[in-house]
Amino acid sequence: MSLTIDFEGKAVVVIGGTSGINRGVAELFAEHGARVAVASRSNDKVQATVASLKELGAEAMGFSADVRDLDAIDAGMATVHETFGDFDVLVSGAAGNFPATINGMSANAFRSVVEIDLLGTFHVMKASFPYLKKPGASVINISAPQAFLPMEAQAHVCSAKAGVDMMTLTLSKEWGREGIRINSIVPGPIAGTEGMARLAPDQSATQRVIDSVPLGRMGSPADVGHACLFLGSDLSTYISGVILPVDGAWSQGGCGDLNAYPGSLALELERG
Ligand code: COA
Ligand code: NAP
Repeated sequence: MSLTIDFEGKAVVVIGGTSGINRGVAELFAEHGARVAVASRSNDKVQATVASLKELGAEAMGFSADVRDLDAIDAGMATVHETFGDFDVLVSGAAGNFPATINGMSANAFRSVVEIDLLGTFHVMKASFPYLKKPGASVINISAPQAFLPMEAQAHVCSAKAGVDMMTLTLSKEWGREGIRINSIVPGPIAGTEGMARLAPDQSATQRVIDSVPLGRMGSPADVGHACLFLGSDLSTYISGVILPVDGAWSQGGCGDLNAYPGSLALELERG
């Protein structure tokens, strides 16, 4: 028996899909035949990503919106639905991060990350629901190991991503009744991304992270993308309500240096 993953004719929406991991995910779906829509705040990034998806041969579109603005996300989702019809796959991965302890951040700093990651995910779920294929859609929330591992200088992200995963699990029950599957993917340290640039900004910090990954390397956006292809495909039609680390077993060791006290990378960064 041979296994194929073919998204020909399928509609895939990637929120926060204009850089880093999520853009890699969008491109992988495009390479596998999907029609792909992306969204983020910057219209320039949206246009550049749509152009690159088209270069890959995909039908592609996008809209600019801040996930903190429910009306803007609602309007964008409606536009995509007008062109693509019901969504087969939704990936929600917009996020913000910076290293700061609770004592070192203002209430507004905490709020900004919680509003992007957690409230933003709620908005994306809420706005997409009318357009998700019922039954049959697959929703993938992009989480982070901070959701289940406390890390210094990451309380805002820990709080927000734990909420994202609980939203995934709750929706697997509520939306399961509608034939919609929903899972979270927890990326490990992914090379060349803004997230890692913020938490491991130089070669020595990067090497410390690599050394802490049992599989001995950073991941790539394609590593996360391949898991998204699987969870978005008919190969996983009985998988829902799963929090899936795609991290080379990084989280099994507690995410090494990012998390180890004393000497936490995140804490060092905050202290400068
Ligand atoms: N340490 C402490 N506080 C910080 C901070 C840092 N390194 N960076 C930002 N803040 C604070 C700001 O000072 C502000 O608080 P204040 O109003 O009390 O001064 C608050 O966070 C919001 O900052 P602002 O720049 O106005 O927010 P924004 O909504 O424009 O941007 C961020 C959101 C801060 C998360 C921004 O970094 C961002 O847009 N990130 C997206 C990309 C990203 O983080 N990628 C990695 C994903 S894992
Ligand atoms: P990134 O390149 O900064 O990507 C973030 C994306 O979200 C961008 O497209 C950004 O575009 C968009 N975005 C940010 N704030 C937004 C907002 N308020 N509204 C709408 N869109 C917004 O980050 P990344 O490092 O690849 O991370 C991607 C995801 O993986 C995140 O969910 C992150 O938590 C998770 N993750 C990353 C790592 C890692 O190693 N990098 C590890 C674990 C988990 P605009 O700027 O145009 O808005």
